[in-house]
Amino acid sequence: IADLDFIKTLPKAELHLHIEGSLEPELMFELSRRNKIEIPFSSVEEIKAAYKFHNLQSFLDIYYQGASVLIHEQDFYDLTMAYLLRCREDNVVHTEIFFDPQTHTERGIDIGVVIRGIHSALKDAESEWGISSHLILCFLRHLSEEEAITTLKAAKPYLEFIKGVGLDSSELGHPPSKFQQVFAMAKELGLERVAHAGEEGPAEYIKEALDLLDVSRIDHGVRCVEDEALIERLIDREIPLTVCPLSNTALCVYDDMSQHPILQLLERGLCVTVNADDPAYFGGYVNRNYQALSESLGMTKKQAKKLAINSFKASYISQAQQQKWA
Ligand code: HPA
Ligand code: ZN
Repeated sequence: IADLDFIKTLPKAELHLHIEGSLEPELMFELSRRNKIEIPFSSVEEIKAAYKFHNLQSFLDIYYQGASVLIHEQDFYDLTMAYLLRCREDNVVHTEIFFDPQTHTERGIDIGVVIRGIHSALKDAESEWGISSHLILCFLRHLSEEEAITTLKAAKPYLEFIKGVGLDSSELGHPPSKFQQVFAMAKELGLERVAHAGEEGPAEYIKEALDLLDVSRIDHGVRCVEDEALIERLIDREIPLTVCPLSNTALCVYDDMSQHPILQLLERGLCVTVNADDPAYFGGYVNRNYQALSESLGMTKKQAKKLAINSFKASYISQAQQQKWA
């Protein structure tokens, strides 16, 4: 069995991390004071007590509310730097993080403030600790495609800092097909493409993301288990899944970690990876996610190692750089 000490020895890449979801209650409080933004909690304990979710939407409501304390470039820097310190503790040597510009631009924050704050923390972590990174801009799928296009256009002056685009927020009722145009525009701009699909939504949404958005990676994707032909396609085409075990149990995708299919998918030859999603809300950073698989599914050292190697294979770093971590 892979224990925490062993997990720590493995260099890892993280590929599914919403930077707004790494906002710890302590920093949320500090920023709420610093920026004089009221939050409906009077203590860190009260915030933590509110983190009981029954599905994706019940989480998203609290997650968007939490992000309202982020105003200045320095706030985005502090948020990102706090996460990168956790990467260092967990032996995460490469990270590809999501951000949700629309959560901030809707409140009147300039997209440049958001991108510059996050980017400067990423650069500092690279020069100080050698942690490499990419930034992925996510469109909120509960909003219109027109608003996604406006967001992509607003990001154009900063494209040198952005590796790709993604799709997140409320999945059910907002299929990938809704965003065909904006993903085609992103491809035209030379951006990589990923999408959340098959978290709460059906396997059909995974197929749509592949066929209509031309994504090279699926975020979550666990509901592929309902479609045997799709599983074979994901294996044949080597499409990675960025799986988030503690997120899935926190949002009741599975009642218990013992039901999680990640190791079965790994054994079948899918390129599955382990990620934290929104660690401040779901109970842990990447090593805690690996540890949960050991505790509930008896993950072996060999399996843990394979998952860590997959994380580099599934990343957007060069082949040469991947060799370094293999
Ligand atoms: N799913 C959809 N939207 C999200 C998530 C997620 O896991 N985390 C943050 N936004
Ligand atoms: Zn996510």
